[in-house]
Amino acid sequence: MASEDFKPVEEIGKSNQSCLTEVVLLGFSDFQELQVLLFVLVLLFYVFAFFGNLLTVIVTLVEPALYTPMYFFLRNLSFLEVSYTSVTIPKMLVDLLSETQTISFAGCGVQMFFFLLFAVTECSLLSVMAYDRYVAICNPLQYTLSMNQRVCTELSAVAWTIGTLVAFSQTLSVFTKPFCGANTIRHFFCEIVAVLTLASTDTHTDEVAITVLTVLLLMVPFLLILLSYVFIISTILKIPSAEGRSKAFSTCSSHLIMVSLFYGSGTFVYMEPTSVHSQSKERFFSLVYTVLTPTVNPIIYSLRNKEMKSAVKKTIGQKVFS
Ligand SMILES: *[C@@H]1O[C@H](CO)[C@@H](O)[C@H](O)[C@H]1NC(C)=O
Repeated sequence: MASEDFKPVEEIGKSNQSCLTEVVLLGFSDFQELQVLLFVLVLLFYVFAFFGNLLTVIVTLVEPALYTPMYFFLRNLSFLEVSYTSVTIPKMLVDLLSETQTISFAGCGVQMFFFLLFAVTECSLLSVMAYDRYVAICNPLQYTLSMNQRVCTELSAVAWTIGTLVAFSQTLSVFTKPFCGANTIRHFFCEIVAVLTLASTDTHTDEVAITVLTVLLLMVPFLLILLSYVFIISTILKIPSAEGRSKAFSTCSSHLIMVSLFYGSGTFVYMEPTSVHSQSKERFFSLVYTVLTPTVNPIIYSLRNKEMKSAVKKTIGQKVFS
């Protein structure tokens, strides 16, 4: 944290707007011996996540049997995951192989904005999906009525609006600061807290604000999801037949796994005191939510799910045989 002692530098910085023209992403270059292994692993995960989620988007679009609220939200989720992995991972892969790992200052802002947009929207969308499961299981008779197409579109539009507002305001608050000093961050993408440490001004208030916002963004959806599951599980336990119980549970277990992974890794990274930030452990946990979670999504939704499996077979079959 640059302190008040550096006022003169800060003044120069202000008159000259931002002095930084590029940012160096240290990535994993302090783990030389892991570079190749990381490259291969991350590439495999990325390719799998990309095509798995793309397939989910396509199958839920073309297969009428999947025209239900759950698959509408799943399509949106998969689209988000294709997007937010593509904002960070390809650049990271290139950096793992190249000598210099730089990103232009403007590029850094663009990357931060889109990463926040997709990640925050995903957080909100996971709550919407929990609500969908809640209505489906606890109010099955009203489900088709209350979860009609308009409501679904509106609910996901709310998630996108929250994502846009947060991404816009946070990126703006970071990039209106003077940046005239150090230009190297210990991260593999322009993550907001990592970039903030470069600002040549006291960023303590901003760091606190980001922590509070993150707690809200993670906790509010998390509590909503938890509440939905309390109702869902108590309803499921009241189902008399074991077969009925397992059928009801299987429709929400995929979502439950997704939520645990996404919030688990997010909580780990963001709920730690800022002093621990920018250390290597955090970078590895960031890999979980940037690469692992999006990879797992198509597996748990598609391979464990009969409806989805037969739809995938049908879609691919049609392409092959026509
Ligand atoms: C996601 O939801 C938004 C808002 O309802 C909608 O406009 C968009 O088309 C959806 N995206 C996909 C890939 O289904």
